[in-house]
Amino acid sequence: MTTLDQPATPPTTRPRQPELRTALPGPKTAAIMGRDAQHLSTSYMRPYPFVPDHGEGVWLTDADGNTMLDFFAGIAVSTTGHAHPHVVRAVQEQVGKFAHVCLTDYPQEITTSLAERLLRHIERPRSDGGHEKWRVFFGNSGAEAVEAAVKLARNHTGRSHIISTMGSFHGRTYGAITLTGSKTKYKRGFGPLLPAVSHVPYPNPFRPLPGSTPETCGQAVLGQIEALFVGVVPADEVAAIIVEPMQGEGGYIVPPADFLPGLRALCDRHGIMLIFDEVQAGMGRTGKMFSFQNAAAEWGDVQPDMVTVAKGIASGLPISALLARESVMTWPVGSHGSTFGGNPVSAAAAHATLDLLEGVVTHPGCGASLMENAADVGTYLLTELRAMQAEFPFLGDVRGQGLFIGLEFVKPDGSPDGALRDAASLAMFGRGLLNLDCGEAVIRVSPPLILTHEEAHTGLEIMRAALRSL
Ligand SMILES: Cc1ncc(COP(=O)(O)O)c(C=O)c1O
Repeated sequence: MTTLDQPATPPTTRPRQPELRTALPGPKTAAIMGRDAQHLSTSYMRPYPFVPDHGEGVWLTDADGNTMLDFFAGIAVSTTGHAHPHVVRAVQEQVGKFAHVCLTDYPQEITTSLAERLLRHIERPRSDGGHEKWRVFFGNSGAEAVEAAVKLARNHTGRSHIISTMGSFHGRTYGAITLTGSKTKYKRGFGPLLPAVSHVPYPNPFRPLPGSTPETCGQAVLGQIEALFVGVVPADEVAAIIVEPMQGEGGYIVPPADFLPGLRALCDRHGIMLIFDEVQAGMGRTGKMFSFQNAAAEWGDVQPDMVTVAKGIASGLPISALLARESVMTWPVGSHGSTFGGNPVSAAAAHATLDLLEGVVTHPGCGASLMENAADVGTYLLTELRAMQAEFPFLGDVRGQGLFIGLEFVKPDGSPDGALRDAASLAMFGRGLLNLDCGEAVIRVSPPLILTHEEAHTGLEIMRAALRSL
């Protein structure tokens, strides 16, 4: 294990509080936002006026020199924070060697070793002393990994139907938006979408299906899938069930403990592929490499047939991966590929990110590994945020695992309060805390995994002040 050289600026001189030098937005930010509104796609969202100029660790400085604490990490992407010296070095070294050759046609050591490294986190020992073999397909984005999973499931099983969940998000390409169940705005006016896709509810212990409880809502969903097989689609025409083991865009929801094992058993009964979409919750964010591995002891050792990862894998450089059991990855030579997929510069960033996640390289103040830090600081944040519920009754639910935490805002009658959530998000931003909404009325807390207790405390104080101002 090596300890990372101290960054150029020693941690003691780093800002511990946001530094707001101008009113928000400052003049440069406002000018760039104006040009952005004129020339970029009308589909882009702009939840509040922020234009990054540079970053260091968990701090991002805008175009006017306002430095803010990053509590969303570019949607759970910036695993090692901004401009981590270990990642920067790896990227610079690789780009100086070669930036592209095309993995679809030529093997490259950096992607071969990255695949081997990812597989070590999923392949399990078999009872005969060997280990179960998996393989990797590399793409550029989460959607591309999801598309690959759907194509592989159909190709492997010879079946067409896919079951997904309400509230899910799987991406914006045609297959992926069809699977997505979070918001109809992704679909309106874009049809026809992929045929042969059904949605079932996602088990949310805070809002269990009618007739179920927080404990039994997972079983209720499994019952709805079995009902689909009776009335909607025969089980032997279903290629795959795709599910986020912890739901991201839908509201940072952790399902009840028996849901994933139940899903595994159901898929086994019917010869259906089980795909875990770990694009948002995976890569160490929940304290384990993949979120489904979190409570293996409690849930039983659930193993899917495929896993998709992207976002947090390379600290901001674009790369995604579909991991699949070798017995499943049976598509023929040339049937699937990607020009940029598995790009070597992104692969170098992924290796550097894994160095920190696994603890091959340590980050000052973050314990033995970033995965351990995510679990540790995440527990602290979750505990403190739950304690805040007593002061702020509109915080209906505080849930999560590691640094994957959701705060749900509710009206006095318990229904979701999206307007209050939006006000809270702006109030936090105005005090220098970058945050992002999800679900109907949820703020997600998904900071870089290098967040220290001290920085978490700063974030909590800003949140408290913002919530008091509502
Ligand atoms: C669970 C999940 N799957 C897939 C995607 C799509 O990823 P991308 O935007 O990289 O295509 C996302 C993006 O938020 C996601 O959260």
